[in-house]
Amino acid sequence: MSVETMKAVQVYEDGGPEVLIYEDVPRPVAGPGEVLVRVYAAGVNPADWRARAGFPDVPEQFRHAIPPIARPHIPGFDLSGIVETVGPDVTTFDTGDAVFGMIRFPAGGKAYAEYATAPVTDLALKPTSIDHIQAAAVPMAALTAWQFLYQDLEPGQTILINGAAGGVGHFAVQLAKIKGAYVIAAASGRHEAFLHELGIDEYIDYTTTPVEQALRNVDLIYDTVGGMNADSLLSVLKHGGRLIAINIGNYSAERATRLGITIGTGRPSLHPDAAQLAKIGRLIDAARLHVAIDTVVPLSQVRQAHIRGESGHLRGKIVLRVVE
Ligand SMILES: NC(=O)c1ccc[n+]([C@@H]2O[C@H](COP(=O)([O-])OP(=O)(O)OC[C@H]3O[C@@H](n4cnc5c(N)ncnc54)[C@H](OP(=O)(O)O)[C@@H]3O)[C@@H](O)[C@H]2O)c1
Repeated sequence: MSVETMKAVQVYEDGGPEVLIYEDVPRPVAGPGEVLVRVYAAGVNPADWRARAGFPDVPEQFRHAIPPIARPHIPGFDLSGIVETVGPDVTTFDTGDAVFGMIRFPAGGKAYAEYATAPVTDLALKPTSIDHIQAAAVPMAALTAWQFLYQDLEPGQTILINGAAGGVGHFAVQLAKIKGAYVIAAASGRHEAFLHELGIDEYIDYTTTPVEQALRNVDLIYDTVGGMNADSLLSVLKHGGRLIAINIGNYSAERATRLGITIGTGRPSLHPDAAQLAKIGRLIDAARLHVAIDTVVPLSQVRQAHIRGESGHLRGKIVLRVVE
């Protein structure tokens, strides 16, 4: 019996963008509870280039939390496409449905391909008002903003979103505004007009004004940046405030306790959630949530996508175009 093949990107070893290999691989088959998706576009996330490199930026004490990465492996968690076939017992979707989702996060993925199998529990119907490129940009970044911010935010709270123009940040800004928060955005200068279009109340250009000097008495910080200077953000919070960290940072637990500040998401780690994704899709179709695209790259040129991602300063998302 001949095996059908497809184009996909594989990684055989940890390394730079050069280890992303565009080649022929066997086309997968949907199992029970899965559909086979003809991928039209695949979203690119920092998790993809960090996994490709073997997570060299993760300190020793956090390495136990890294999911095992198979080699060779097809990267990518976010996709948008059309259901090609449905697996045994699947009734949720039909052949021909347009779907989007974050598939098998954190230990699976395989979206950088012409076809991908996906558990139906990881998918929702694609919003009809946007194309596949935009839809593929949504799942991981929007779910990160939904699960760690939107669900627990109270109307009227003052929130600082650090890294506000990036993939996660630009969804966090809009979801916080939908919740009725007062939103202060920190980003580099070139994103100011973009962030005002998204509805922010205040803007700080962190390249000219240290955030910790400009702000006090904030209820909540949503920090997508982390890093070696992250601890300085604590002085921005009021007593009783919370810092939601979605990246690794050098926050001092001892200092936080002294200041009466909670650090953490207060939630389980990021996970696929079809119901949340469907709600996000409805906000998009209602034109209340907008998707910003930084760069679109053909799947065959995937290395360019990772080079762009790792160069930083993104405004919105990078997406791989799989179907021209
Ligand atoms: N915990 C989780 O489950 C989870 C889920 C998703 C993502 N993440 C992590 O969250 C991080 C952000 O993800 P993302 O997709 O939003 O990344 P991204 O699209 O690359 O965005 C990062 C943004 O931060 C800005 N930035 C860089 N340095 C900054 C600084 N010092 N102060 C303020 N802004 C700064 C960048 O642009 P400018 O410098 O031009 O402003 C960029 O817009 C990644 O490290 C990712 O791995 C974690």
